[in-house]
Amino acid sequence: MTFIIGIIGTGAMGAGIAQVAATYGCKVLLHDTNVAMLEKAIVGINHSLTKLVEKGKFNNNEQAAILSNITSHQNLEDLKGCNMIIEAIVEDLAVKQRVFSALEQLVSDECILASNTSSLSIASIAAACKNKERVIGIHFFNPAVLMPLVELIPALTTSQKVFDESLSVIKSWGKVTVKAKDTPGFIVNRLARPYYGEAIKIYEEGMADFATIDYAMKTLGGFKMGPFELMDFIGNDVNYRVTETVWQQFFYDARYRPSLTQKRLFEAGLFGRKSGKGYYDYSVAEMPQPNIDEALAKKIFTRIISMLINEAAEALLLQIGTREDLDLAMVKGVNYKQGLLKWADEIGINEILNELNELHQWFGDDRYRPSVLLKQKAKEGSKFF
Ligand code: NAI
Repeated sequence: MTFIIGIIGTGAMGAGIAQVAATYGCKVLLHDTNVAMLEKAIVGINHSLTKLVEKGKFNNNEQAAILSNITSHQNLEDLKGCNMIIEAIVEDLAVKQRVFSALEQLVSDECILASNTSSLSIASIAAACKNKERVIGIHFFNPAVLMPLVELIPALTTSQKVFDESLSVIKSWGKVTVKAKDTPGFIVNRLARPYYGEAIKIYEEGMADFATIDYAMKTLGGFKMGPFELMDFIGNDVNYRVTETVWQQFFYDARYRPSLTQKRLFEAGLFGRKSGKGYYDYSVAEMPQPNIDEALAKKIFTRIISMLINEAAEALLLQIGTREDLDLAMVKGVNYKQGLLKWADEIGINEILNELNELHQWFGDDRYRPSVLLKQKAKEGSKFF
């Protein structure tokens, strides 16, 4: 039996997910309220496949076969025969709930309804459906064709059967999966917050400039991009919104507090690469040079990595994911050179705890409070792995 996937919303994410599903032999039905986006998605998928053919990943016949698996549909009702529908529309709860409620009237009882949301709770989306057991979060990373990670997020109401089926479908598409609790930011967008937040705070305190902080994280941490390069790449509009939403959903916990520096960039339209200017100015030939001071670099790296590890420890304590999944997610979702818990073992849990205790005492700010799990591990002299 051919598996039929419906994709609702064919922007950056929907088009990418459609390409992945079609590549692995699924029939894919695309729907978007904006007809121009439907056309753009097909053109984009074809273009992406052509590049993969040039790289020798497929031949022309395979490209044609993949494309023939995808059809566009202006009418939502055309998706009624789907086995699974993945929603990737605008990040707006009311609009998503309307779509899920409408879908439920159309599809069979067995059809899985999934959301690719980054920041809304799966429980709140499922609440729009009579049959909440069939609703699940299936969170891809951008670009979906290239990024191996997919987070699977069962809501409180999701059935085990729907989780198991979703897992087997996503695995059959060659993706690496992790299971995350239905909490703000799931795994990756939660654990990665200090990479941005602490870097900005270091800058705001005048400890170092953007280029120096980026240099420290790349050379000492092996990160592909420094925090400021990465925020400019993601877009300061997108990155600021995620930070603000995660903070609000954690009931304004100081750990996730956004920064005024990024808020002002966002308000000023200085989004980063896509607007030509963000933390860096992309219209000039010469990028600012870092201050190469190894002691300073070590201070910056130690502070940011300690905050990242603290977040990973807290997520493990709160059972957001298993230790294996928390580590795997950062490697496969955001290209960290290793998982944060493994990194903690390598650096030494005592070292991390000392750094956090010092910061906590010095600033008197709750954002630096060490996770109980770090304290416990230090007391026992044990490791995460
Ligand atoms: P986008 O803005 O590129 O595309 C959204 C598409 O949905 C548009 O084509 C729009 O016409 C369509 N749409 C809006 N309302 C609709 C409706 N009621 N019915 C059908 N189509 C509708 O957005 P993007 O970036 O692809 O994000 C989509 C979803 O994926 C969001 O929930 C976002 O949070 C999530 N996400 C985004 C990531 C990213 O890096 N862009 C990463 C992972 C998840």
